[in-house]
Amino acid sequence: MKRVGMLLLLVSTAVQAAPFANGNAEAGKKFFEQNQCNRCHIQMVGGDGSEIFTRPDHKVRSASQLIKQINFCSGNAGIHLSAQDEQNLGAYLNQRYYQLK
Ligand code: HEC
Repeated sequence: MKRVGMLLLLVSTAVQAAPFANGNAEAGKKFFEQNQCNRCHIQMVGGDGSEIFTRPDHKVRSASQLIKQINFCSGNAGIHLSAQDEQNLGAYLNQRYYQLK
């Protein structure tokens, strides 16, 4: 029993350390560019749009919020996301901007 507990502890620690462990950041970057995810963000914050993620009062503060926002934006933009696309985008944005644990 004790060993199972240890194992679960290890697994949950690993998940926390890498919230998008199943995502591929490189594929997420490609998807982001191909679907012009930044087009609205550029209109809002200027530049290359990335300030939407780094502005001091940016919204996303957790991995689950990031997933929600990714889905919200895609829905608005009429972009279809698979579960894998979602993870890839999460991995990309988290690695590049958010560094959420
Ligand atoms: C139709 C316009 C539009 C498109 C296209 C769009 N977004 Fe957004 N996005 C927004 C708006 C508006 C906000 C700001 C929401 C707010 O501040 O309440 C936002 C904010 C975000 C944020 C949160 C930034 C923060 O404050 O931390 C993320 C993450 C994000 N978008 C991801 C994406 C991704 C990924 C795509 C492409 C799949 C995408 N967006 C495409 C309109 C768009």
